[in-house]
Amino acid sequence: MSIRKGRFLLFVFISLRCSVIFSFTDPITQQKLDQVPNLPGQSFNVDFAHYAGYVTVNQEAGRALFYWLTEAVEDPASKPLVLWLNGGPGCSSIAFGMAEEVGPFHVNKDGKSVYLNPYSWNTVANLLFLDSPAGVGYSYSNTTSDILNNGDKRTAADSLQFLLNWLERFPQFKGRGFYIAGESYAGHYVPQLSQAIVRYNKANTKSPINLKGYMVGNALTDDYSDHMGVFQFMWSAGMISDQTYKKSNELCDKESFIHPSRECDEMIDIGYREMGNIDPYSIFTPPCSANGLTSRLSRRWHRVGHIGQSYDPCTEQHSIVYFNLPEVQNALHVFQTNTSRKWETCNIAINTHWQDSPISVLDVHQELISAGLRVWIFSGDTDAVIPVTSTRYSIDALKLPTVSPWRAWYDDGQVGGWTQGYEGLTFVTVRGAGHEVPLHKPKLALVLLNNFLAGNPMASFEQVVEFKASALEQVSSF
Ligand SMILES: *[C@@H]1O[C@H](CO)[C@@H](O)[C@H](O)[C@H]1NC(C)=O
Ligand SMILES: *[C@@H]1O[C@H](CO)[C@@H](O)[C@H](O)[C@H]1NC(C)=O
Repeated sequence: MSIRKGRFLLFVFISLRCSVIFSFTDPITQQKLDQVPNLPGQSFNVDFAHYAGYVTVNQEAGRALFYWLTEAVEDPASKPLVLWLNGGPGCSSIAFGMAEEVGPFHVNKDGKSVYLNPYSWNTVANLLFLDSPAGVGYSYSNTTSDILNNGDKRTAADSLQFLLNWLERFPQFKGRGFYIAGESYAGHYVPQLSQAIVRYNKANTKSPINLKGYMVGNALTDDYSDHMGVFQFMWSAGMISDQTYKKSNELCDKESFIHPSRECDEMIDIGYREMGNIDPYSIFTPPCSANGLTSRLSRRWHRVGHIGQSYDPCTEQHSIVYFNLPEVQNALHVFQTNTSRKWETCNIAINTHWQDSPISVLDVHQELISAGLRVWIFSGDTDAVIPVTSTRYSIDALKLPTVSPWRAWYDDGQVGGWTQGYEGLTFVTVRGAGHEVPLHKPKLALVLLNNFLAGNPMASFEQVVEFKASALEQVSSF
């Protein structure tokens, strides 16, 4: 009965689409309509076009996902397409990815204006942000129950549908080299979406999405390894007691990371109390005092931190002001579902009602490594939320042979972090960066993206010296 009902609905859905299609704006016209002329509070010109709007991923339920594409600064037609995803679950890629990490437009302290991020990833690629799943950021569903029924499976399926429909609106990107990157809970989204694409491509050989690889940072990967690494990191950084360290390991050993048992959850609370009012996403930088004590949601997932004098730990607060401005929402073609609904950086209802979340995505990584995708895993090493120790345990569990041993990598003569090459996987740490690597170390994050896209290992000390020597030779030969 339910199968027949399902087929019937599918039939109605298809015929509805056909009858309605002519009255809809055609995709290319829609692309033009999506172009964003100038942002409120943007006092500078940019050399790239950008587009924002919605792609319907489920007509029946009325689910539409919000995207923002910033074309590459130079020669976008020759540059790859990179999709950036934030985690949560429930956090917006606009709030974090665009406004304080890899995007060109970062929000000023006044919450009313933006400045240009010189290390934006659209300096080397076409950069696409997606608020996923429905209910996150500006994305929405007309079926209110959808918001409380999100999980990994539907997120991957909707994101794949988004890409397929989006490529109809932006056919210039069909067949273009495509990469996915993200952090935190996107450690689930990125490999799961990649897997959905690889499987879609197998079944649709005529119209593949040209996915070449993916990269995840401070990524939730394997609940067992992630828990073990968190407690070890907190303990060795001197933030929790011996007893809490021991008991956390005992009580959280086999627990889900996002749905832990009450006992494990209470133990983690004790650990957080021992840590005091520090920013767990970046343990050596000041927390934003506007946040008060770290809330339960932000405790595990999200938020900010950074190193350097100009560092502002409150960037998230500025975004909350900016992206709630009606003129900003108009400029970005935001659909007003419910005018009393406030734009939030992270949707707590989505987070607490999250459904399916496998305890490990190591099997997905394995499948995609075998499929020949370029897989990079990076880690900011001052993050206590999904720390470098967690990621090292996860990678170790993949049991991949080493092809290039552990070594330091360099940028500007300084150690940028450490790296190890495995068969099918490259691991890169970023020294002094927290949970949001591109926020704390924007230049190093751009170097990382460049190497990832080129498939080049991070520079060794010798390479840096050789490069300087050859540059000197060139100079002296003039
Ligand atoms: C949601 O409902 C509104 C109001 O009926 C409609 O205008 C909009 O197109 C719907 N969205 C989707 C994705 O179907
Ligand atoms: C609209 O927003 C308000 C306030 O957030 C909420 O109480 C209400 O349920 C929302 N209505 C719908 C239809 O989403």
